[in-house]
Amino acid sequence: MSSAAPTGQQTPVLEGGPVSAVVVLAAGEGKRMRSSRSKLLHEIAGHSMLSYALDAATALEPEHIVVVVGHLREQVEAHLAEIAPHATTVVQTEQRGTGHAVQVALEALPELRGDVLVTYGDVPMLTAETLAALVAGHRTAGTAVSVLTAHVDDPTGYGRIVRGAGDEVLGIVEDRDASEAQRTIHEINSGIYVFEPEALREGLARLRPTNDQGELYLTDVLGFAREAGRAVGAYAIEDRWQTEGVNDRVQLARMNAEVNRRTLERWMRAGVTVVDPASTWVHASVDLAEDVTLLPGTSLEGATSVAAGATIGPDTTLVDVEVGEGASVVRTHGSLAVIGAGASVGPFAYLRPGTVLGERGKIGTFVETKNARIGDRAKVPHLTYAGDVEIGEDANIGAGVIFANYDGVTKSSSRVGRASFVGSDSTVVAPVTVADGAYVGAGSTVTGDVGPGELAVSRARQRNVPGWVARKRSGSKTAAAAEEALAAAGPADRAPGADGPVDPPEVEQHVVPAPLSDQEVVGVDPPTSTPSTSTPSSTDSERES
Ligand code: UD1
Ligand code: CA
Repeated sequence: MSSAAPTGQQTPVLEGGPVSAVVVLAAGEGKRMRSSRSKLLHEIAGHSMLSYALDAATALEPEHIVVVVGHLREQVEAHLAEIAPHATTVVQTEQRGTGHAVQVALEALPELRGDVLVTYGDVPMLTAETLAALVAGHRTAGTAVSVLTAHVDDPTGYGRIVRGAGDEVLGIVEDRDASEAQRTIHEINSGIYVFEPEALREGLARLRPTNDQGELYLTDVLGFAREAGRAVGAYAIEDRWQTEGVNDRVQLARMNAEVNRRTLERWMRAGVTVVDPASTWVHASVDLAEDVTLLPGTSLEGATSVAAGATIGPDTTLVDVEVGEGASVVRTHGSLAVIGAGASVGPFAYLRPGTVLGERGKIGTFVETKNARIGDRAKVPHLTYAGDVEIGEDANIGAGVIFANYDGVTKSSSRVGRASFVGSDSTVVAPVTVADGAYVGAGSTVTGDVGPGELAVSRARQRNVPGWVARKRSGSKTAAAAEEALAAAGPADRAPGADGPVDPPEVEQHVVPAPLSDQEVVGVDPPTSTPSTSTPSSTDSERES
């Protein structure tokens, strides 16, 4: 279920052919945002306000899309080049009013034969369907101008729709120019219109700045059309949000919440469980499948997609992440990553770009991955940094393993083969290849390749200093415990020197190197009783599987 445009606009059918032009007004200052960034670049559900306006315009497939820019136009133009390279921009150097803005737009276009739509860059919820309906009504009625209106409780600040005795539209009067009686009108001008080109041209030519602001008002074109004996239409929209502009950050937050509420509602109806809609944010560009569960504190952004049966959250943010069927992603921050079907991620994982986790693979707790391809059923369960590494299927990475990929100058990659086993607390210093079916002993620093079937161990051998506790910590709880343990063990286990008065020289416990025990090779989680006979285990994770 994906949309035609990132903001979710679908292409409506337009009876009577495409409109000639959509003019998007976007030159205003947006002072109340109090921002060094153009108001139009502020985002609703992850997309700039302007991109909603452009997507709606584009969905109508007009011959021309013209965006009138002015304030912070470098920012706006750069953004337009990214989101709508097919749109033309025209510069309105001085903001002399909405009528002037449309004059400037028309000057940049060839002679237009078909209808001209005018919209605003800062009215993000207006849909292409609404625009199409406005055009359809306009065409059916054969009107010269049609305006989209709304009935609101508080019309302060808006232009009012003035109607005659027969309910016909006489014109629009601005709030500041309105009479006491006109101010009581609750039908407001959204600022969205469709014009028959002749009426628009004639009207624009007649505009004069004879109003409180000394501007050229586009709204006056309606009055002129009416005076010339042409019909003017007004279509009231039920969905008030679609005509709402954003002027400050309070409105921005409010609109974000509304867009999100609608998006979640749509997904819930499509079979997604949203446990807490108030703390769940899903961008319009996200794609979800049936039986996905979103737990509280989840934010899904960009081109994120989640396949059937997967569970995301709580407290998870995914940006441009592809999640496979039945996967589970818990308390995770991820971007530009792929999570395979049945895989499990988190809690507390950080998936950076280029992470690809195979089917039923695992990226566990306090694990950071970057440019890491982790094979099917492979596991990176605890406390690991995996950067620039390829880990083969069924491999097991112990707790606290670091794939060191950066020497301060260049980044290099490492590879761990199929069903290989890297012991806990090892550092694999790239570039290194650990072959298929190889082992790395716990606590190793691996700087050279390891062949198939080989065990690599690189660390100091353990040495025990008998009697050290009795001598250096005498009288402590530890010393008492040692004494009890030694007494219980009997004389055979009493180490020589335990009662001696002087420190023995600190020598290797094994004078002749003994073969490494399994326990020495790997484990962090040895069984508590008899370590020497236990099987190796990098972590408890192996037992989980
Ligand atoms: C305008 C309408 C008003 C309507 C309201 C709806 C006029 C005279 N009034 O009022 O009837 O109720 O919108 O929001 O049209 N712009 C330019 N160049 C300019 C002036 C404005 O590009 O010279 C753009 C702005 O960036 C904005 C839009 O046009 O996107 C509306 O301008 P704004 O100044 O907000 O108009 P309002 O006074 O709110
Ligand atoms: Ca406005």
